[in-house]
Amino acid sequence: MTRTLFEPVRLGELELANRIVMAPMTRNRAEPDGTPSALMREHYAQRADAGLIVAEGTWPSATGQAYCRQPGIQTAAHVAGWRRVTDAVHEAGGLIVLQIMHAGRIGSRHVKPPGVETVAPSALQAAGQVHTDSAGMQPFDVPRALSTDEVRAVVREHAQAALNARAAGFDGVELHGTSGYLPMQFLCSGTNRRSDEYGGDAAVRARFALECLQAMANAIGPGRVGLRLNPGNTYNDTSDEESAATHAELMRQVRPLGLAYLHVMRSPLPGLDAFALAREHFGGPLIVNDGFGPENAEQALQAGAAVSFARHYIANPDLVRRLREGLPLQRFDRKTLYTPGPAGYTDHAPA
Ligand SMILES: Cc1cc2nc3c(=O)[nH]c(=O)nc-3n(C[C@H](O)[C@H](O)[C@H](O)COP(=O)(O)O)c2cc1C
Repeated sequence: MTRTLFEPVRLGELELANRIVMAPMTRNRAEPDGTPSALMREHYAQRADAGLIVAEGTWPSATGQAYCRQPGIQTAAHVAGWRRVTDAVHEAGGLIVLQIMHAGRIGSRHVKPPGVETVAPSALQAAGQVHTDSAGMQPFDVPRALSTDEVRAVVREHAQAALNARAAGFDGVELHGTSGYLPMQFLCSGTNRRSDEYGGDAAVRARFALECLQAMANAIGPGRVGLRLNPGNTYNDTSDEESAATHAELMRQVRPLGLAYLHVMRSPLPGLDAFALAREHFGGPLIVNDGFGPENAEQALQAGAAVSFARHYIANPDLVRRLREGLPLQRFDRKTLYTPGPAGYTDHAPA
């Protein structure tokens, strides 16, 4: 049977009206303290006819903040701000989950509140720089290695973030396991030199992500928890000699949890079919991503239960309609990706 983009699909407890997913995108439009803004409410409400919105990478605690004006899900103000977003999406008939993103060593003291440290599995500074509103481009901090007890505390923060997300009206959460942020820092050999129960071979390095997912699933139910992975990703100075095998190991460990979905991106590794890897080792429903558009989106459904779009959603809030009616897509403006204000964020006129 040929699947189509416009038919419903169930991922765990999530009942999507269609198979078009809005992929998470950091857009830096929150208030300086991480409270979601009225602009964010409008942005997500405009896109509510997606089968599922995965809202942007959001920090579970201030230590995990990577970017200025990136939202959090830690304080009562965060929960109240997100509640306005989720209410607007639900009123428009949509479904929305929150991506939980602890950035680990991808941090700068110029981004976080005073006194908040940058932490990581090991005290290894990431190569690269980050934009800060107060001091321009800055190198990433040299992180402090977390103690074993502190790692356990960060796992508990993930459970609390999942509970806070549900209190804010989200239908579920997705753990950000790609792009060199904390779960990937634990998983990959280049960033994890620990000798305790969170460091060693791939089976042990997978423990942190697994424990976070278990804690989140215990808090809100596995059918409302997803995971995002991208085997072979080297973003933010990430390296692992055996990335495909390492990711397969994590997928096998996660499999018995019965999560809602695995959100898997195409691999940059030559010859690696990340979707096939995920089908073999994760076994549950897949949302496939990266480089899909009107020309190949239906084809993507041979690989996964649903397909997600990021860049096409930037300038096409009505992407579902454009795909259904075969309308041309508008191009987005790189200059306004991360700038405050409505330009390039909420101001796209429908065709
Ligand atoms: C502006 C921008 C911000 C992004 N922020 C996130 C993020 O917060 N979390 C994440 O997992 N991926 C993030 N991504 C990656 C996208 O979700 C997606 O995987 C990537 O753009 C490829 O999909 P596409 O070809 O449909 O654009 C971001 C991408 C863009 C362009």
